[in-house]
Amino acid sequence: DAIGKGTYPTFMLKEIDEQPAVMRRISQHYLPVDQPIAIDPALIQHVAQADRLYFVAAGTSYHASLVGKRLFERYAQIPAEAGVASEFGYHWPLLSAKPFFIFLSQSGETADSRQVLVEAKRRGLPTLVITNVANSTLAREADYHLLLHAGPEIAVASTKAYTAQIAVEAVLAKAVGERRQLGAAQSFDLAGQLALAANAMDEITDNHQAWDQLAAEYLGSATDAFYLGRGIDYDVSLEAALKLKEISYVHTEGFAAGELKHGTIALIEPGVPVITFITEQATADHTRGNVQEVKARGGNVLVIASEACQQAGDQIVIPTLTDELMPLVTVVCGQLLAYYATLQRGLNVDQPRNLAKSVTVE
Ligand code: G6P
Repeated sequence: DAIGKGTYPTFMLKEIDEQPAVMRRISQHYLPVDQPIAIDPALIQHVAQADRLYFVAAGTSYHASLVGKRLFERYAQIPAEAGVASEFGYHWPLLSAKPFFIFLSQSGETADSRQVLVEAKRRGLPTLVITNVANSTLAREADYHLLLHAGPEIAVASTKAYTAQIAVEAVLAKAVGERRQLGAAQSFDLAGQLALAANAMDEITDNHQAWDQLAAEYLGSATDAFYLGRGIDYDVSLEAALKLKEISYVHTEGFAAGELKHGTIALIEPGVPVITFITEQATADHTRGNVQEVKARGGNVLVIASEACQQAGDQIVIPTLTDELMPLVTVVCGQLLAYYATLQRGLNVDQPRNLAKSVTVE
């Protein structure tokens, strides 16, 4: 039953657990074996001609667009910017000569994003919406749309839409990079990476009890929690922090690990949980240094590291993917920590206070 909970106690847990299947579905749909990538060639060509991409989105979708910026810069070699829709709408940047707009929206109904889409169209600029809802307002109004194929997402806190957005962004980045005849795109084994990600997600979601225990140990009595990482791990720390904040009402902050010393370290006192993502080999040593600074002040550090970056004592070690795809796996750890920390507080995981699944007012 696509919109029932099945045997699950909550939609959020069901949707977290569906992520491996969503990765496989996206791969089957967009990356058919021995065939070209299944995306409208006109869209690929249009993006390939752009000199700059402008990602516009809100909430979790904005966090997915931060990853999209990195994917397109690496695999399509097109400069990209990611903007929060409610800011972008009132403070348009100076545009490049050949801009292309990419809107990310699970629901396809977010008013802040639509406002920017309407203005982009008024200016005659090309637009794509990546959405989970085929007949949504944004899907109907944009020049192009790509579907997430994540299935209905019911829980207010977005989970599988985020990982689906990253996977679909990667598909398009590869297609555009191939169109531009870039070696980085041609040699990018995206189907292989998505299969690895799905398997890693399976391993993580197969062990609910371990996440329940970790959440109790690190977040059980927390009133504040910090998430840190560098580069792609910074992007995911923003999303993991948002997940905990929106459902558990614990005050959270996700920040770039190097910024610790420029302010946030003042808040580290004995027992404060600091969830640290370390999957980027180029910056791993620096982030390890930040972990030491936190530990020296009594912070309760939980390290989530990739195999390539792991060290003795790391609590969670996950398989290594290409840097830009690590959030597919690291975010699942953050989702499950948030989920169990919230259950343990006796709160309504699927329908947190004050939040709506889609916000149709600016
Ligand atoms: C609301 C939801 C968030 C979501 C955001 C953007 O605030 O509570 O979970 O990330 O809207 O929604 P969209 O449908 O545009 O991705």
